[in-house]
Formats: sequence, structure tokens, C-alpha cells
Amino acid sequence: MRFLAFEGLDGSGKSTLMQGLRSEFKKRGLPFVDTREPGGTPLGQQIRQLLLTVEGEAPVPRAEALLYQADRAQNVETLIKPALAKGTWVFSDRHAASSVAFQTGGRALAAAEIEWLNTFSTGGLKPDLYVLLDLTVEESRRRLDGRGQDADRFEREKSDFHERVRGAYLRMAKEEPGLWLVLDASDKPDAMLGKLIEALKKRKWLD
Ligand code: TYD
Repeated sequence: MRFLAFEGLDGSGKSTLMQGLRSEFKKRGLPFVDTREPGGTPLGQQIRQLLLTVEGEAPVPRAEALLYQADRAQNVETLIKPALAKGTWVFSDRHAASSVAFQTGGRALAAAEIEWLNTFSTGGLKPDLYVLLDLTVEESRRRLDGRGQDADRFEREKSDFHERVRGAYLRMAKEEPGLWLVLDASDKPDAMLGKLIEALKKRKWLD
């Protein structure tokens, strides 16, 4: 069993890729649980509301950073660790790297402080693999505009915010290439799923 976390700009196709992976695992009869940050647990869903709503008082960057960490601590302790202990794979739509990308890249908080907070909330647990769906900021914007939903607080941020987020992701992937699989999110969904399965086989995690 392994812990995989999926990362990228909004609109990068994480949900579609994760859907494809779930189908593949069902076909193979392998046990998995799905989670997301923020919002993978009942408490996390309440925190998610606080974080993404555009109504009322917006959290300041440090308050925002702590809310993501509170959600993460709950997710790790009540969902991720018990699942891994039972021998179940875990697929998380975003995890600690999102805090590095959005809170240090986007919001310009100190990287060392966010890293410390990530270690605090995860107790040092790390995914076995981060899957980055890399997409240009222009393409991410184009896809979000096409969705026709109201934008959340992050989606309302300007392009340079998202450029910094993307830059932070690419930096993390470069610094720890063994921990990251970078997929070109402009590829077709089937092609991306194929590359992911291939990477899992290469690591001998799948037959
Ligand atoms: P996401 O679940 O991708 O929202 P949706 O799929 O509905 O667009 O993530 C919510 C937002 O929260 C996303 O813009 C990234 C941001 N985020 C952070 O800023 N820091 C974090 O630690 C996490 C997990 C997410």
C-alpha cells in the first residue's frame, strides 16, 4: 500500500486523473481510500468552508496557513494513518506541498515556517509519491473560466500569484525528483493515467 498525493493549479485535471486511477484500482481489486485537503474529514469540511468562502472576513495569510494545517492534522490522524495501517492505498487530492506552493509561493510566507508547520501537522508522515499535474497559468485560467462556477478566493487571485504557485511546485519537483512525478496536464486524460500507472509499475508498487 502507498500514499499518493495529487497537486497542481486549479483546473489542472486532478479530479479526472484521480477518477481514472480509482477505476484502475477497482478493476484490479486493490483497496484504496480517497481524501482531499482541505475537506477530507467532517471537521475538515467545516474548515474548507471557512477557507474558500468569499463572504465575510477573509483570513489573513497566517490564519489561512494554520487553518490548512488544522485540516491536514485531522486528515492524517483520523483518515490517512489508519488507512495505511490497514494496508489500504491512500489517494489525496492535495497535501502538504499545497501549503508550500500556495502559502510560501503564493502568499509569500517564510518557507522554513511552513515546512515546520507541515511536519507538525503530519507528524513527519510524507506521501510515497507526489503527482504534479503541470499546466501553464493561462491554460488553467482558460479551463476555470469555462467551468462557469463562481470563483473561490484563490481562483480570484491574479496571474502572478498563480505563476509563483506553479514555480514553487516545479522547484519542489526538481529538488526531490524521486518524490515527484511531473505530468504534462495538457496531455489527454488517458495518456496521463497511462504514465501514472507506468510510474507505479516501475517502482514495483503495481504488477
Ligand atoms: P481544491 O480542493 O483544489 O479546490 P477546488 O478543487 O474546489 O478548486 O483546493 C482548494 C484551494 O485551497 C486551492 O486553490 C489550493 C488551496 N490550498 C492552499 O492554499 N493551501 C493548502 O495547504 C491546500 C491543501 C490548498
